[in-house]
Amino acid sequence: MGDRGDGEPRAARTIRRVTIYLDHAATTPLRREVLGAMLPFLTDVFGNPSSAHAVGRRARAALDEAHEKVAHELNAQAREIVFTSGGTEASNLAIKGAAWAGKAQGNHVITSAIEHHATLHTVSHLEKFGFEVSVVPVDRYGRVDPDQIASAMNDRTILVSLMLANNEVGTVQPVREVIERVRHQRGVLVHVDAVQAAPYVGIDVRALDVDLLSLSAHKFEGPKGIGALFIRHGTTLLPQQQGGSQERYRRAGTENVAGAVGLAVAYELSCREREGVVPRVAALRDRLRDAVLVVPGVELTGHPRDRLPGHLSVIARESDGASVSFALDLEGIACSTGSACTTGSAEPSHVLTAMGYPAEEALGAVRMTLGRTTTEEEVDRVAQVVPEVLVRMRVGAAAVAADPLGQQVPS
Ligand SMILES: Cc1ncc(COP(=O)(O)O)c(C=O)c1O
Repeated sequence: MGDRGDGEPRAARTIRRVTIYLDHAATTPLRREVLGAMLPFLTDVFGNPSSAHAVGRRARAALDEAHEKVAHELNAQAREIVFTSGGTEASNLAIKGAAWAGKAQGNHVITSAIEHHATLHTVSHLEKFGFEVSVVPVDRYGRVDPDQIASAMNDRTILVSLMLANNEVGTVQPVREVIERVRHQRGVLVHVDAVQAAPYVGIDVRALDVDLLSLSAHKFEGPKGIGALFIRHGTTLLPQQQGGSQERYRRAGTENVAGAVGLAVAYELSCREREGVVPRVAALRDRLRDAVLVVPGVELTGHPRDRLPGHLSVIARESDGASVSFALDLEGIACSTGSACTTGSAEPSHVLTAMGYPAEEALGAVRMTLGRTTTEEEVDRVAQVVPEVLVRMRVGAAAVAADPLGQQVPS
């Protein structure tokens, strides 16, 4: 691991060099209070929640409390929450679990073209087993049309899976309207991927009338490797891993107690502070947006209003988004080209192409995502550096295109 001997991995020391972090959609820093709440369960209170003795019972009590806290914030019941290893597993359990459990009733699943790969790859996997999938298109802003979802329904439809907000462009989906349209058909379950929306959009599962909903702690200043799935009481899912009876037989395996405690505390803090955080982050984002959009050839992607407060996603024409984010990294600004999960892929984003951007334009994507801890000073610095870098990189890209061998570049 390249350890110096003081217990701190080399990677952790390297990251400290990043001065301004604008990639909160990829992940967020762990809150100190959350770490403090988790620590006892990584040290003294190490019991297995399934053990009958006192050490185990203490872990069980913490796990039960974590279920209750998350349930309370979602207006759910504690038994309706299942902890998973993250958002990906939560969505896998929701989609595959619901599809296999509903197989006797039908084999048709509906989703949208701009879902996270945790959904899109899961539904493609189901196609190999005889399920049929309708992938509904989105408009230029990345919004699905609830009527199109309704028209995609047939008498074999068993599941609709939709994200509450998109991770690349931040567009918030009209999920409530979609649910209203699909509810008339009995037996159709609705899964909502709320992973990206959770820190910013208040979620009441009863008001939303959703059956399944995925969360991931690391998007709201909790630890990585822990997520949660809300499963409405009475919903039958086929468990996706076999083993012990943990999580009421819905997710086998010894529970990640510290992770669950961390997720619950992080989500509780996030919900409590949301009202103040949303306008503050949105105001900072708008300030940065205004500074960035003056650069010629730069266009905002995603919905102009119905978007997450921290999301500033743009396309810089005649630029390569990967080179721009690399240049910004050298300036001490961490951002991304699109989704962190597809970094390093030379393919244009499936989200932007589904929104109608040609591949060559989609390759100019740059995503800056602010978070609760982003400061005014940071935004001012970024607002100064980003336009400079965008202009420089555009010129650079144009020069390379005109003179690929660099023969005219003066030495
Ligand atoms: C919308 C969305 N869904 C699902 C996931 C996957 O969550 P996790 O990283 O916890 O597996 C992400 C992560 O980026 C996401 O943004």
